[in-house]
Amino acid sequence: MGQPLLEVSHLQTTFFDGKQALNAVDDVSFTIHEGETVGLVGESGCGKSVTSLSIMRLLSSGGKIMNGSIHFNGQNLLALSEKEMRNIRGNEIAMVFQEPMTSLNPVYKIGKQIDEAIIYHNKVTKKEARQRTIETLKNVGIPRAEEIVREYPFQLSGGMRQRVMIAMAMVCKPKLLIADEPTTALDVTIQAQILDLMRELNKKNGTAILLITHDLGVVAEMCERVIVMYCGKVVEETDVQSLFAHPHHPYTQGLLASTPKLGEHAERLGSIKGNVPSLNHLPKGCRFAPRCPKAMAICREQVPALEALDDGGLCRCFLYQAKKAR
Ligand SMILES: Nc1ncnc2c1ncn2[C@@H]1O[C@H](COP(=O)(O)OP(=O)(O)OP(=O)(O)O)[C@@H](O)[C@H]1O
Ligand code: SF4
Ligand SMILES: [Mg+2]
Repeated sequence: MGQPLLEVSHLQTTFFDGKQALNAVDDVSFTIHEGETVGLVGESGCGKSVTSLSIMRLLSSGGKIMNGSIHFNGQNLLALSEKEMRNIRGNEIAMVFQEPMTSLNPVYKIGKQIDEAIIYHNKVTKKEARQRTIETLKNVGIPRAEEIVREYPFQLSGGMRQRVMIAMAMVCKPKLLIADEPTTALDVTIQAQILDLMRELNKKNGTAILLITHDLGVVAEMCERVIVMYCGKVVEETDVQSLFAHPHHPYTQGLLASTPKLGEHAERLGSIKGNVPSLNHLPKGCRFAPRCPKAMAICREQVPALEALDDGGLCRCFLYQAKKAR
């Protein structure tokens, strides 16, 4: 494979809370190639959103990228001016968030927002842009598109707003779409439709997708490769078939055990005991040790490294490092 489209390297993002520095993203590295769909999974608070906000350089105040680099299409995003970065956002990297109100401009009508994106990318008149806006909205399954263009984001339902965000992404033909829990707030039917639209965006325009989700079912359907995060660190990275066939990391195994399979009752599922530790109370050795059914003495003392496995995946666990050393 050639040069990756996105290369996140040793990213460290820290929140400063009084005197405390909390590393929400701690030495995270991964790549996404052109047209690839990569899943980013992990329980709540593992650093998935902070990773995506770091890539977009949209961290809230108090959050700072302290280390590492983020290269997109050969450019170091961390070295760009805010103006250059604004050009990349929405145009080259599109975003769909769980709550699309945060990415739509609340004071402009829907039509105007999409018209402007079309005019930015194409030599067209305002009238032609509006026609295309209406066509695109119809394409993403928005009924009454002619009326919706004159409405404000708050007048639409969550599912409709999500479709508008995808319509925007279709218009701009970005190289990368970052979708952070794009369907979590939606009911199952709408969820399937939004996933179909993302797949279409990927197939038609070759848009690569970083899909952040809690839902391993969605990962199975959409992704080629998966990155599993725990407490700010990548603990496993693998192709999607291997993830489901033979997950390596005990955390990944736990996540899979708590995912219902078709026809299975949720109450029969196992779940990972305990909670994700808070960033200011991280355990000394492996961060998963207090919850890990396979923890050994070394796990409570030393931090395992992310190492390559024979099947091409990566795993951060002493179980495999011990095997290799033997
Ligand atoms: N603005 C902030 N100030 C301080 N800490 C923050 C801030 N935003 C995130 N964090 C902390 O960073 C860690 C990672 O948060 P993040 O939002 O990335 O989790 P997540 O994996 O996206 O979780 P979820 O699945 O709930 O969306 C958490 O411990 C969170 O408390
Ligand atoms: S390093 Fe030890 S505690 Fe951590 S996941 Fe592996 S076996 Fe469990
Ligand atoms: Mg999140």
